[in-house]
Amino acid sequence: DTFADTIRPDIGFQSVPVALGDQVDTVTVPPGYTARAFFSWGDTVTNAAPGWTDSADATADVQTQQAGQNHDGMHFFPFSNEPNAHGLLVVNHEYTNDTLHPNGPTVITGKHGEKIRPLAQVQKEQAAHGASIIEVKKDSAGHWQRVLPSAFNRRLTVNTPMEIRGPAAGSDAMKTAQDPTGTRVLGTLNNCSMGVTPWGTYLMCEENWKNYFVNRDHDDWQQRSSHHRYAIAQGPHSHKYYWESVDPRFDATPNDALPYQGFVNEPNRFGWVVEFDPFDPQSTPIKRTALGRLVREGCTCVLADDGTMAFYSGDDTRGEYVYKFVPSARFDAARPERNKHLLDKGTVYCASYNADGTGQWRALEYGQNGLTEVNGFHSQADVLIDLRRAADTVGATSMDRPEWVAVHPQTTDGYISLTNNYKRGVVEDQPLNPANPRAENHHGQILRWREHEQNPAALSFEWELFVLAGPVLSTIGDNGEPQPLSGDRFSCPDGLWFDGDNRLWIATDYDELELEYNGQGCNQLLCADTVTRVVKRFATGPIGAEITGLTGTPDGKALWFNVQHPAISYPASDGKTRPRSTTVLVTKDDGGVIGT
Ligand code: FEO
Ligand code: CA
Ligand code: CA
Ligand code: CA
Repeated sequence: DTFADTIRPDIGFQSVPVALGDQVDTVTVPPGYTARAFFSWGDTVTNAAPGWTDSADATADVQTQQAGQNHDGMHFFPFSNEPNAHGLLVVNHEYTNDTLHPNGPTVITGKHGEKIRPLAQVQKEQAAHGASIIEVKKDSAGHWQRVLPSAFNRRLTVNTPMEIRGPAAGSDAMKTAQDPTGTRVLGTLNNCSMGVTPWGTYLMCEENWKNYFVNRDHDDWQQRSSHHRYAIAQGPHSHKYYWESVDPRFDATPNDALPYQGFVNEPNRFGWVVEFDPFDPQSTPIKRTALGRLVREGCTCVLADDGTMAFYSGDDTRGEYVYKFVPSARFDAARPERNKHLLDKGTVYCASYNADGTGQWRALEYGQNGLTEVNGFHSQADVLIDLRRAADTVGATSMDRPEWVAVHPQTTDGYISLTNNYKRGVVEDQPLNPANPRAENHHGQILRWREHEQNPAALSFEWELFVLAGPVLSTIGDNGEPQPLSGDRFSCPDGLWFDGDNRLWIATDYDELELEYNGQGCNQLLCADTVTRVVKRFATGPIGAEITGLTGTPDGKALWFNVQHPAISYPASDGKTRPRSTTVLVTKDDGGVIGT
């Protein structure tokens, strides 16, 4: 068995029960552990900001200096001189909730069905997206605290100036009325999961950016696939927020009166990996077009001893694909200046999963595999901007909503959550396949693979289903039949993360009020032994919230996770205070390693 040669992790905690009922408003962890709210929406980030108020009356300007909403992907970057006691925490703010405004968002419908928003509310929503970078340190009593003021603390938003680099930078398809160079863009959107590079930078990933734009033109996806293959709205308004009513760059309808047809290309400037150095608060984040444009969940690096790397990403939409990017050059720890723009040159591949447990990575390179003029590709920029259509052309396997990837620290095996897909086996272009074997899949699965010779740059791999989630956990046996597994039930795996001792942490994202998830309770954080496939429930969250954003200190003694969009009043948990997305800190009461 390809995946058997692994040291078993030490997992010793007592599982917590499912959290049932519609009034759950707390985080529960096992006996011997403590969870506390550490960093919530509205908390001060930059030095001048006032603190959060329950009235939600902060202006956009104040919100720009405070934590945004919907904490998602996250990473702890240690300071090298005291890595287990001092670091920077980077937290994504994926999107905003109605709670952002005192009485929810104001929306007026115009006579053509367009939606009109107040400018001040839109500006506040834009300020509550992006990321927070915060300094954190253990105090003299050994408790983690935030450091305020801190020269490192920073907010990135929808309006932070960013650079565009790589093969698509400067191409005509990246130019707008505001940026005739195609190399400068404002901000980042819908940052879901993330990645970290071996040289210590953070990778934000732009997921459901398609919801923020409208193109009212009657072009179809064949004509403008960079919009319509990604499902940008074509009706009178964007799918969410309706920022186009007061911020013209979100109106991607071609406008011949303006240079570059106005903002028709603005959506081409989202869907990328955005790299920045958290230790340099003055640095300009860079969109790395060499990795391609997706509804990108995350970007997880695997590094071989010789410096060869790959970066894995899921494209989180029903039926979409799994990708990897292999930089042309190797990581060179001894020469940091050589790593600075490693993500500008390399090859993107999409994954194809065969029934016999093998798979191939298929290159998405202009001029190869049909990515030529005949199919409407005129350059590598075209391939990267239209990466989904490129993958359609070369033949990738349709998946059940690929979300996070985690890489096993010892074996370098990849693990990916395929969170759910109720259309599997129902619509013609999403038939059952061996990697996605369940029709109307409400519960999701985790798939794992090993690159040929454990080489990140390999063109082939072996794979298997690690666990099929649901009321009873299962896997597929050697005979091809489902085999039940013992372990704590969960559905809809989303966040995946390995700690340094080979424990696989699984965070879930399902709507607990839907019938399919009856008995499952609130969303959960679980811990899996990848050798025995035993999964244990470590934490449950408040109702309405997904659990996400896993990170910890190198010694494993502090774990942070995110409670995203709680419904009642968490973290106040008093039944009346406005709920806030929150980073939760978990420690073990005896000071030990989390999970033992
Ligand atoms: Fe933002 Fe795919 O989760
Ligand atoms: Ca989310
Ligand atoms: Ca997710
Ligand atoms: Ca999800």
